[in-house]
Amino acid sequence: MCGIVGVVGNKNATSIIIDGLKKLEYRGYDSAGIAVVENGKFVTVKEEGKITNLEKALSQQKISSSIGIGHTRWATHGKPSKENAHPHASSNVCVVHNGIIENHQELKNKLQKSGAKFLSETDTEVVPHLIEFHFEKTGNIKESLLATAKEIKGTFALAVMFKGHENVIAVAKRGSPLVLGLGENENYIASDYYALSENTHKIIALEDEEFAIITPDKIEFFNEQGAEIKKSVKVMEPEKARISKDGFDHFMLKEIYEQPRVLEETIQAYVDLSSSSIHLPNFAFDLKSINKITIIACGTSYYSGMCAKYLIEEIAGVEVEVDIASEFRYRSHPFREDNLMIFVSQSGETADTLAALKFAKQNNQKILSIVNAPHSTMAQLSDVVVRTVAGPEIGVASTKAYTAQVTILGLLAIHFACVKGRISPEKKAKLLQELAESGSKMTHLFDEKQLTNIKKISKSLTRAKNLLYIGRGISQITAFEAALKFRELSYINAQGIAAGELKHGTIALIDNKMPVIVIAPHNANNDLFEKTASNAQEVNARGGKIIFVSDKKGIKQFGKMANKKIEIPEMSGIIQEAILPVISTQLLAYYVALYKGNDVDQPRNLAKSVTVE
Ligand code: F6R
Repeated sequence: MCGIVGVVGNKNATSIIIDGLKKLEYRGYDSAGIAVVENGKFVTVKEEGKITNLEKALSQQKISSSIGIGHTRWATHGKPSKENAHPHASSNVCVVHNGIIENHQELKNKLQKSGAKFLSETDTEVVPHLIEFHFEKTGNIKESLLATAKEIKGTFALAVMFKGHENVIAVAKRGSPLVLGLGENENYIASDYYALSENTHKIIALEDEEFAIITPDKIEFFNEQGAEIKKSVKVMEPEKARISKDGFDHFMLKEIYEQPRVLEETIQAYVDLSSSSIHLPNFAFDLKSINKITIIACGTSYYSGMCAKYLIEEIAGVEVEVDIASEFRYRSHPFREDNLMIFVSQSGETADTLAALKFAKQNNQKILSIVNAPHSTMAQLSDVVVRTVAGPEIGVASTKAYTAQVTILGLLAIHFACVKGRISPEKKAKLLQELAESGSKMTHLFDEKQLTNIKKISKSLTRAKNLLYIGRGISQITAFEAALKFRELSYINAQGIAAGELKHGTIALIDNKMPVIVIAPHNANNDLFEKTASNAQEVNARGGKIIFVSDKKGIKQFGKMANKKIEIPEMSGIIQEAILPVISTQLLAYYVALYKGNDVDQPRNLAKSVTVE
């Protein structure tokens, strides 16, 4: 989602900002802008669309300045346009902003009365005018920021420049991430450390209701009362995986292919297979006392939570409830002492999940988070953090982070079962083996023959207007996740339905134009195969075009009714069933998008980290 980069120092600000914004590009945005101070004036350049458009516009001007702020915007208030792109300025104050100003209309009315002129439809534009209003009264940067923050309702990460103060950037934070980077006679700001990783590894993360005034050789921090505060510097590990497509056409494809390695590395990080032992971080509470688990997440991470319900209830016998984060805070909860709340998030910054986590914390709940970004806000606020070791995920549509989440949740299920004394050592060893073997089984999904088949099917699906995924048991969750991925990438309406639910309404949609992708692994322990196959027959009888995703046995038994087949490896249990079939569906979504000419890594309207509610 929106990104902020700023610098005050001794080098060319424009190129540092553009390089930083490019690092945040993967988060999704629809316009970009930059402002510097040159000869006592703000010079602002903004463009709709990609950063390359901004670069082109910048190349037509000669700008030389060592102070500047830049922004990538994902539209909330007002359409994507040059006018609505950040930075926004009043006469003497220039601002970039992430977050939402909820009371912007009320503030705008007030500021208009005192003469402010507005040029955009954004909520942000009230901020420079409000800061200027307070700056005129106090003549003091710090006081003007404090007074502005007091009046604003909503969330913000703000970076502010003042005319007449050509070596100062002031920042403020509430609810949206903001970090400061320390350099040699140069200091930086960004909404994510990643944007600064080429310039510095020395980072200070701002907390909510903290402010800073940054010059090239000094940073002063203060709290909402205006009192000076001390902050500690964190030295970040240089990113192991640099952002690179490693020869793949898209990040998404690279990330799909990375999954066998991610699975292996996750297991190496947490499991000793020789002794069948699991080594998770220390829990700050007695896991034995937990009798209920609530999993809270959004989107794809929510579906990994739904997989966990099947895994934990089956393996550990502990009751699991799964909640959509955007709904969780808005209903009553009989909070219990023996309830563990698990928050699942790739980014660790998703606004709804974060707000739900804070709500649970206020209600004294025990909090475990499963995040891929180790320094994220969710990680910082949790009692225990179990990291997914997927590495940076750049494609907006989540792939490897999902399978990594399901892997960790599978491990947690086994671990809970041990703590609760509900699993024999033999069963534990068998399940860990099943998990470990998923990696090598996965590699077969990338065989040349498989890919040729998937590409052929994808080509035929580019013409579809609607599409259904169906499955039962944990394969039902694969159907949900597969349909979400298909919608995101292809812009075709795809729905995931529990196969048994189909006849309760959705079957009305079936005709000879409707492709129905049936996820039906034939598993010796899974009596659901026959039932799913019967539901597929019902589709077949009504002319629906079946794409049957199953193993050799399944295809032999029921493949005849299918128009097309995708063969997946034979699963040895529920954990593999959660992890393996989804990969073929990721490839389908990828190739359909590719053949339709869609932007695979940054699908329209989407953002990687959704930092607004
Ligand atoms: C879908 C996708 C999104 C995210 C969701 C939550 O491909 O990526 O649905 O899963 O926005 O994001 P995180 O996991 O960062 O909390």
